[in-house]
Amino acid sequence: MKSYSLQGQAALVTGADSGIGKGVALELAKAGAKLLINYAHNQVAADQTVNEIKSAGGEAFAFQADVSHEAEVQAMFAEMFKRYGTIDILVNNAGLQKDSKFVDMTLDQWQTVININLTGQFLCSREAAREFIRRGVVQERSKAAGKIICMSSVHEVIPWGGHVNYATSKGGIMMLMKSMAQELAPHKIRVVSIGPGAIQTPINRDAWGTPESLEKLLTLIPYNRIGQPDDIGRLAAWLSSDEADYITGITIFMDGGMTLYPGFADNG
Ligand code: BGC
Repeated sequence: MKSYSLQGQAALVTGADSGIGKGVALELAKAGAKLLINYAHNQVAADQTVNEIKSAGGEAFAFQADVSHEAEVQAMFAEMFKRYGTIDILVNNAGLQKDSKFVDMTLDQWQTVININLTGQFLCSREAAREFIRRGVVQERSKAAGKIICMSSVHEVIPWGGHVNYATSKGGIMMLMKSMAQELAPHKIRVVSIGPGAIQTPINRDAWGTPESLEKLLTLIPYNRIGQPDDIGRLAAWLSSDEADYITGITIFMDGGMTLYPGFADNG
């Protein structure tokens, strides 16, 4: 039994068909929120997330939209408002990697990652903020007019060679989040980031898929285990709740200590 509830709140999670997004959607639903499960390509997986929520007694539907396309984002929010009347929680989770050595990186690899990881968060946050401001606080549901959670990464602070496009997108999300938080706080809108470390999902299968790769990865994680999507999901649900009502404008890292410079534990 959770000590808080998101009962009656409407939440939109982007990229909720798999990985961290799915973990977040399941935990928000467990706390009582009704969900829009956004996906870009994999309808079967998105329907699976919806079914898991429904069979646990929750409410959800899937909606396809590429978060980097303004018209598709607006169509998604229109459907959200049609089904649920409003939005209380936005989780900007959709993101991808297009890894390449810097000197070999194509403009397309650069732009695809920036468009989806960063511009996508801008477009979704803008639609949500407009609705939060229009509607204002509804006391029975939450002390805040709305909550925006941005999925960042430890790579908003840890530079990452071979992944310059991705690290840049996450550094950008940090200032997007902070600047939005500053501007929107007077409207009682909270904006926070979660900075996950290595979470066991399809995006980083190369880093944990074999015993050798996992052993190498664990040298970067003082707590000595890879994270799971429900770790991040529980944090997202708590941050969305009034338990976290005084938190805005910061990144909470959830990384088993990856940001503690583990290489210095026996060196330097
Ligand atoms: C990346 C993963 C990586 C992790 C830790 C995440 O943001 O998407 O591929 O394993 O950071 O480096």
